[in-house]
Amino acid sequence: MSAAAKPAAASPGTAGGDAVPVHVGIIMDGNGRWAAARGLPRALGHKAGAEAARRAIEAAAEAGIGWLTLFAFSSENWRRPADEVHALTGLMRLYLRSEVKTLVREGIRLRIIGERERFGPDLVRAIDAAEAATAEGRRLNLNVALSYGGRAEIVAAAKRALEQGLDPATLDEAAFGRLLSTDGMPDPDLIIRTSGEQRLSNFLLWQSAYAEFVFQDVLWPDYEARHLAEAIGEFARRERRYGVRAA
Ligand code: FPP
Repeated sequence: MSAAAKPAAASPGTAGGDAVPVHVGIIMDGNGRWAAARGLPRALGHKAGAEAARRAIEAAAEAGIGWLTLFAFSSENWRRPADEVHALTGLMRLYLRSEVKTLVREGIRLRIIGERERFGPDLVRAIDAAEAATAEGRRLNLNVALSYGGRAEIVAAAKRALEQGLDPATLDEAAFGRLLSTDGMPDPDLIIRTSGEQRLSNFLLWQSAYAEFVFQDVLWPDYEARHLAEAIGEFARRERRYGVRAA
């Protein structure tokens, strides 16, 4: 059975000894500080961050994680200086084109969540092509959140509910979840944020209702497989209660 097919833990109890989370979300933070500490432009911090993302994807697949969601560009990131936005979108374009073969070979299915239409038509085409090319991947489901914001996602879902004329009497959490960009995906079990900051920053607001949070004091470009292993170890020691007391 593929890791992706494993059901998420849904009842109280410890995550358990060697439990591997089904879905991990990562807020990749600290690229700018990493660059500043070296007297480098921020763009080079993002470039090193993209290499760290590649290592994390590989490590997640090796660890048997079924779903990995990386927060690569928030709705708020559009307000950064134009040259930084340009550097970030340039990196996305480059990686979308250069990594597709590797993703296919490694059985990794790529999906982009967020407002992709805010990027130019060439990037939208590259995203569509990469998703189509990797659609058969079963080893790891990789979501990259681009121009993503949790509140915007919830508002968009509410609009869809109204447009579809859904009956308020039957609209429940499951039905609302199907209107989100993560329809059909398990909720994240573990959210990791690097660089020592301890905030959710509008990432997977709805989906992380029962996620465990691990904050790691490492700048994202320095992230190695061992850091992911440490976060998984910490997750396994947590007691998950889902609002109820464990027996
Ligand atoms: C946060 O660091 C990071 C980002 C805003 C962008 C993350 C992007 C990448 C890791 C590269 C692209 C990824 C892929 C998958 C191609 P920051 O700039 O906020 O750092 P700071 O808080 O130290 O200033």
